[in-house]
Amino acid sequence: MIINYRNDQDKVEVTKETESLLRKALQAGARVHRLPKETEVSVTLVDNAAIHQLNRDYRNVDRPTDVLSFALDEADEPAEVGGPEEHLLGDIVISAEMAQKQAGEFGHSLNREVAYLAVHSLLHLLGYDHKKTADKKAMRAEEEKILEKIHLSQADLGGEMHMSDDVKDAFLETLLAGAKAAKSDAEEEAGGDVAMLFRKAREAMQNAYIPYSHFPVGAAVLTDDGAIYTGCNVENASYGLSLCAERNAIFKAVTEGHRTFRMLLVTGNTTAPIAPCGACCQVIAEFKIPRIVMTNAAGDVQEATYADLLPFGFSEEELAEGQEQSGKKAGNPAAAKKAAGSKRKKA
Ligand code: THU
Repeated sequence: MIINYRNDQDKVEVTKETESLLRKALQAGARVHRLPKETEVSVTLVDNAAIHQLNRDYRNVDRPTDVLSFALDEADEPAEVGGPEEHLLGDIVISAEMAQKQAGEFGHSLNREVAYLAVHSLLHLLGYDHKKTADKKAMRAEEEKILEKIHLSQADLGGEMHMSDDVKDAFLETLLAGAKAAKSDAEEEAGGDVAMLFRKAREAMQNAYIPYSHFPVGAAVLTDDGAIYTGCNVENASYGLSLCAERNAIFKAVTEGHRTFRMLLVTGNTTAPIAPCGACCQVIAEFKIPRIVMTNAAGDVQEATYADLLPFGFSEEELAEGQEQSGKKAGNPAAAKKAAGSKRKKA
């Protein structure tokens, strides 16, 4: 396959190795799909501003994305049969800035991310799609088959999840479709809320500050009056000071005057939906957030109540009880009163 490669951006430093891995990945794709050697594809690395503009102009989506694929048969002028353009497959446009960010999130190299995005895009050019779950599975399997040839498959890399930006969009559509198909208004609203919180949490996750763990987490809480606050994990060279995404989201909301919540959603790049850590469960229990929705990049969703997550959590009632016992006045008289009536025993 003939690959016309151009780097049209200077925001991210790309090396000869980036180009070389990208070429290797695309050639592997061409071999797996037995494309004639005259097949031509162009690959351009751009910055976020440029891909944002293309995304707006061609897909009506007003934000940057990681990769765009322009198949030639979608162009205004059809290729002349038998002419020199007959073997032109199309254009692949990759945001180097987005690739760098996602490489950080997944804890792998920029080169690997660029190669993955190129393969994903090549498959789009060859007609693959991921609107339906079955198509998504087939496309994912095909990506793996190609990446295996150059030892960059998930198995080679320790099995981390990958999901390109447009796959996330497809997952959101599925969630929203589920919400629309709901039997009652309440179900529909709840489904819509999950989809909205998921999108916001995934967005916040992109800002995760994770130089130590390379493990991004995103969270979003919905307050009783319908406001949404998001959080990502923020780490520190003094590891213990790192703060989880869930607590950041809750503390942001509380700082803005909210104390009653309808739902908290957490998301990560885990194989199964990510669960809040013990410390976050304790904070979730403090505010008695009724619905905890755990998700991952693949769109698996699992729901629990705060009591499921932390059945024997420490509470303000217990605090008041202890203070009462030691003859100290409880800081919160309401809690003290509740504590007086509470006969809860730990197992
Ligand atoms: N982390 C969260 O943000 N939320 C969780 O529920 C689990 C763990 C973060 C903390 C740290 O930055 C990284 O994930 C690895 O532990």
